[in-house]
Formats: sequence, C-alpha cells, structure tokens
Amino acid sequence: MAELAALFAAVVIADLIKPPQQLCLTCHGPDPAQDGPVAPAIKGAARELLEARIRDGAYPPGYRPKRPTKVMPPMPAVAWGGAAR
Ligand code: HEC
Repeated sequence: MAELAALFAAVVIADLIKPPQQLCLTCHGPDPAQDGPVAPAIKGAARELLEARIRDGAYPPGYRPKRPTKVMPPMPAVAWGGAAR
C-alpha cells in the first residue's frame, strides 16, 4: 500500500500533497489513470484543479468537471496541513 501511495503521489500530485494521501486512494483508487471505486481518474490534473478541489471543494473557473456530483468533500487540513502554501 505504501508503494501504491508513493506512485500515486509521484504521478498525480507531485509535491502538492505530503505525505501521499491514503485518503485519495480510498475513493480514486490506486491507479490515478483509471477511475477508482467511487471517483474519476485524476491523472494529469492541473495544479489549480487540485487546489480548488481539495482546498475549496470547487473547480477552477471554466473547468468542466468529469462528474456533476458533489461527493468529494473539501479537505484543506488534509492537503495543506500546515505546509507553507
Ligand atoms: C470521499 C471520496 C473522495 C476522496 C477521499 C477524494 N476524492 Fe477526489 N473526487 C471524488 C469524487 C466522487 C469526485 C467527482 C466529483 C464529486 O462528486 O465530488 C472527485 C473529483 C476529484 C477531482 C476532479 C476530477 C475532474 O477532473 O473532474 C480531483 C482532481 C480529485 N477528486 C482529487 C482528489 C485528491 C488529490 C484527493 C486526496 C486529497 C481526493 N480527490 C480525495 C471523491 C473523493
């Protein structure tokens, strides 16, 4: 599991979120290029998309979400937990 988390982080979120979030895997699945158990693939997600989604539970202006649902909660504490951003 640690291996998958590391891969996930490297491919999708780079240095944006530390440590690798098991939380993301729960919904998005271990392979960011494929849809997970409850959430869509997020490989290649732009930084501004990740920020908007994770911090605000929103989308960047003009972005067309892959899904119309609002299942994913904002997780500001998880994503940024004290990091200098
Ligand atoms: C509770 C389950 C859940 C968790 C945990 C979760 N997500 Fe999501 N995520 C979703 C769902 C479901 C969607 C589809 C839109 C919606 O319903 O909110 C989504 C959408 C997204 C999107 C937008 C995809 C697109 O292009 O439309 C990104 C990016 C994303 N998640 C990244 C993450 C990251 C990074 C984490 C870990 C910090 C995370 N998610 C944790 C369920 C989750």
